[in-house]
Amino acid sequence: MKTKTLFVCQNCGAQSPRWAGRCAACESWNSFVEESILPPGEERRGGAFKEKPILLHSVTADAERRWTTNIMELDRVLGGGIVQGSVVLIGGDPGIGKSTLALQIGIALSRKDFKILYVSGEESVRQTGMRARRLGAEESNAFYIVNQIDLNAILEYIKTIHPHVVVIDSIQVLYSADISSSPGSVSQVRECAAVLTHLAKSQGISLFIIGHVTKDGMLAGPRVLEHIVDTVLYFEGERYSTYRILRATKNRFGSTNEIGVFEMASGGLVEVSNPSEIFLSERPHDVSGSVVVPIIEGTRPFLVEVQGLISRSSSGMVRHKSQGFDPNRLAMLVAVLEKRLGLNLQDKDVFLNVVGGVKLMDPAADLGVVTALASALLDRPVSFDTVILGEVGLSSEVRSVSQAAARIQEAERLGFKKCVIPRSNMKNAADIRNKDITLIEVETVKQALDALTH
Ligand code: TYD
Ligand code: MG
Repeated sequence: MKTKTLFVCQNCGAQSPRWAGRCAACESWNSFVEESILPPGEERRGGAFKEKPILLHSVTADAERRWTTNIMELDRVLGGGIVQGSVVLIGGDPGIGKSTLALQIGIALSRKDFKILYVSGEESVRQTGMRARRLGAEESNAFYIVNQIDLNAILEYIKTIHPHVVVIDSIQVLYSADISSSPGSVSQVRECAAVLTHLAKSQGISLFIIGHVTKDGMLAGPRVLEHIVDTVLYFEGERYSTYRILRATKNRFGSTNEIGVFEMASGGLVEVSNPSEIFLSERPHDVSGSVVVPIIEGTRPFLVEVQGLISRSSSGMVRHKSQGFDPNRLAMLVAVLEKRLGLNLQDKDVFLNVVGGVKLMDPAADLGVVTALASALLDRPVSFDTVILGEVGLSSEVRSVSQAAARIQEAERLGFKKCVIPRSNMKNAADIRNKDITLIEVETVKQALDALTH
């Protein structure tokens, strides 16, 4: 077989005949590595592409078949269960719990008599088996595990076992003998993922591929993999927190807004179906800078605590740091506080923290963020029983938010008594008015701060 070598960007997969210091496609530095490439058209051992074109009208309009795992937090993120024949990439930092999650998916499905093949390239069969038992796996003749990194051997197992679901843990340790570059290189990762994906699609096998994220927050060969698979799930969490959030960043079979919340416990991952209670459980009483905002992630409202801290800058350089909030949006909101409300933040360090490892992307949290910062600066606590809603514009106007009723209902459920709400949300909103919670209508940031930090 004739192979040629090329330089391949390990970040985006771009190819170049010559080495280059910087990738012209994705602009990353020092990312080119020499790899041997299988010429296109060369027969791959993963199976020839056999399907023939068929007429559109003869494609059966059956809804896709979905298998629920009974792990609700996962099923929801996937869009209502695992789609047969779909390929799901689970990315995340080492040690975050990807293998644990995948094993628990396997255990849940094997209980429903689905046949599972768990390919562990990183841990021995004994290690995986012990862990599965600790996670509650019982005797099952539907759950197979194997320690293997050779793609062709894995394809053979799939052909003999005929599993419904295959887990690859992880894609970075697999290698295809058809390619001479080392496991983990873009060519290997791409080839292995492509062959497995093709097999999954043609045989109706659901495939979970686990991928580690590199230090700078990228999956090795991230774009390459993200294009190949149907769904990309990221498993995230703060280093010292036991909470984990599963987030879809791409989903051909559902929305990408849903998140699943888990807690890593001694018996594995436990679903957190009421995240508000968890995220608010350690909230301090009567401390300035702490506020609660009802956000919507996907279809679900929940409440998170936002904390602001302002301190005099000790160096000449002021710092604006945020955890879980877009730094550009923070800069804008700080500017609104300075220019429109006359608060003096010029020589101060500004810190913003969203509790529980949540990433706040919902603009309805703006007014809460502004209030947390103002409360911290003025050292005036916001009342403990109040939640804050509103998007903030550049002229410090408070704009309406989506799904106000659902947010208020969640606040009410958790015992909050007052809600600051944009006046524009109060037009024709019968479903908001007949709540028990006291609504404080505001049109500007100033009105909100006057009501909250007096
Ligand atoms: P793991 O699933 O191996 O992470 P990944 O595959 O993403 O690298 O999770 C490893 C961590 O999870 C490890 O630090 C121990 C912890 N853990 C628990 O706390 N409880 C458990 O029941 C299990 C299986 C793991
Ligand atoms: Mg692992």
